[in-house]
Amino acid sequence: MSANPNKDDQQSGVRLLEHKYDGIQEYDQRLPNWWLVTLYGAIAFAIVYWFFYFQSNVGKSDVAELEARLQVIEAANLEATLAMLDNDNLWKMSRNDQFVAAGRETFQSICYTCHGTDLKGGIGFNLVDAEWVHGGQPVEVYNTVNNGVAGTGMQAWGPTLGPKKVAEVVAYVLSHHSSGEGDGGGNEPQ
Ligand code: HEC
Repeated sequence: MSANPNKDDQQSGVRLLEHKYDGIQEYDQRLPNWWLVTLYGAIAFAIVYWFFYFQSNVGKSDVAELEARLQVIEAANLEATLAMLDNDNLWKMSRNDQFVAAGRETFQSICYTCHGTDLKGGIGFNLVDAEWVHGGQPVEVYNTVNNGVAGTGMQAWGPTLGPKKVAEVVAYVLSHHSSGEGDGGGNEPQ
């Protein structure tokens, strides 16, 4: 205990604080520079970080970002599915309301002109009977629509519609059939 505890320490410039606890006194030290630099540096970093983080996300909520990511994943899934289209996949698509509804839209805006709104044919063939000239297996139907029939009114729709829409419209055609066996198989009109 110093005799004069409140007197500033002349040598170091450090002041003793007034309070005492159990005979212990506290100095009022100036905070060291390295400590202050760390504190103000952290504050400055937080402000700059905050600014750039929100700048780069302006108008983009987390939900929108998530949805964008989901779409990328869905697109990748769809591409993967389209890349391995087989009878099974196409047949499954024809039992899926969403695909069939999308296919109906395409059919009733393009294909109906030749195949009729009821798919029973006109300029083009009947698509709901059990007779397939170019094959009634789902993949065969897909290929007919995708590649067309050279020298006839049935053009190749692949380049115009793209694989997704072709698959959908084929699903719509197949949805009128009770099985994908084709040619004299179980393709009864609904
Ligand atoms: C301009 C008229 C026309 C349009 C539009 C058209 N088709 Fe055709 N389609 C035909 C003709 C004609 C044939 C028969 C080809 C032949 O002589 O072999 C045919 C054949 C087909 C066949 C083969 C049927 C079988 O018995 O094998 C399928 C499947 C088919 N079309 C689906 C479609 C779909 C799906 C669309 C719409 C994306 C479409 N067509 C649009 C004229 C058309």
